[in-house]
Amino acid sequence: MPEEFAIGIHDLSVATTRYVLTHDTLAAHNGSDVAKYHKGIGQRSMSVPAADEDIVTMAAAAAAPIVARHGVDRIRTIVFATETSVDQAKAAGIHVHSLLGLPSATRVVELKQACYSGTAALQFAIGLVHRDRSQQVLVIASDVSKYELGNPGEATQGAAAVAMLVSADPALVRIEDPSGMFTADIMDFWRPNYRTTALVDGHESISAYLQAVEGAWKDYTDRGGRTLDDFTAFCYHQPFTKMAHKAHRHLLHYCGHDADEDAITRHIGHTTTYNAEVGNSYTASMYVGLAALLDNADDLTDQAIGFLSYGSGSVAEFFAGTVVPGYRSHLRSDMHRDAISGRQDIDYAKYREIHEHSFPVDGGDHPVPRETTGPYRLAGLFGHKRIYEPR
Ligand code: COA
Repeated sequence: MPEEFAIGIHDLSVATTRYVLTHDTLAAHNGSDVAKYHKGIGQRSMSVPAADEDIVTMAAAAAAPIVARHGVDRIRTIVFATETSVDQAKAAGIHVHSLLGLPSATRVVELKQACYSGTAALQFAIGLVHRDRSQQVLVIASDVSKYELGNPGEATQGAAAVAMLVSADPALVRIEDPSGMFTADIMDFWRPNYRTTALVDGHESISAYLQAVEGAWKDYTDRGGRTLDDFTAFCYHQPFTKMAHKAHRHLLHYCGHDADEDAITRHIGHTTTYNAEVGNSYTASMYVGLAALLDNADDLTDQAIGFLSYGSGSVAEFFAGTVVPGYRSHLRSDMHRDAISGRQDIDYAKYREIHEHSFPVDGGDHPVPRETTGPYRLAGLFGHKRIYEPR
């Protein structure tokens, strides 16, 4: 793509929760061998939202530093991707728009397709910037992953938000054409409207993911995409980090390459470091992987990164990005590391209390205790309305 037409990620910011439950604590409670978590699925801990945290407060916390750095004048659209929405009608991004004081002349919308919709949001944002290069789009992906207690998926919970500013002449990553797409009607993971926890056929979802990797890659190469050897690193959707290993091994085999562990670690190792600690953040997960890669890898200037975004149900997309010279001076590496290392460890009883909490549905006033250490909080549910405020 000629540089003058470059559009992509201009800024990238990650936020997570106040609390963390380690897999050591989970294993000690349920009697599992902790090696199953640490080695088998590649997870060390998972972020757990405090009572006054949710997808909106995490999203606003992720987006606030972007707005502080770039101002609000060029942001004409917010696209908020989530599969754990707080309302069936109102876009969660409107709460973020309000908390951050964005101008009323802004378009705000929410997107859903399981863990994939963050990528749809990114691609739609690129389309809008193509139409008017002076505009910037705030793309937000924010989710809280929740399964029933005792379900095999319980160890793959987590929470995080990623905010990305999409613009012309991006400072971090240029996103390229073409994209490879894949859709299949499958029930590997879903959450009916009446449930707060997801349903998953975990092993089915792993096969569905691998089938989607093949399908998206095939479409990508059919459309004239790069060859596998062009890529320095790959960011995969990570419901658990071992899934990225499985997916990359599958892609290497599919392309007739050796898939030794060294090659896999070289290609994806850095991308799994944050996800192993925050757990599954659904729509945000692949972009948490990108943040970890940019923050922690040696110089990636002008290197190509492959992205494989997967959302159960299922939709997948493979696309490429190129890292922009000078990107390192725009990163938020210390902020990201502090957000992860600064979380407060909780015991199983506290985790269980949070897990089992739900608001009464009587339309009464239900203030929420002050717990978050983040910049924004959910004040409570008052007359069926979620009220947010700066902390
Ligand atoms: N030491 C090391 N590894 C161990 C182990 C031990 N003591 N015990 C088990 N393992 C390994 C298993 O061999 C397996 O690895 P493999 O997949 O490479 O063979 C892995 O740990 C998981 O064990 P498994 O018995 O398959 O676990 P499970 O039946 O409890 O389910 C998931 C694991 C991932 C399927 C489950 O957590 C889940 O459903 N997660 C949600 C998946 C999801 O989010 N999908 C939707 C989006 S893609």
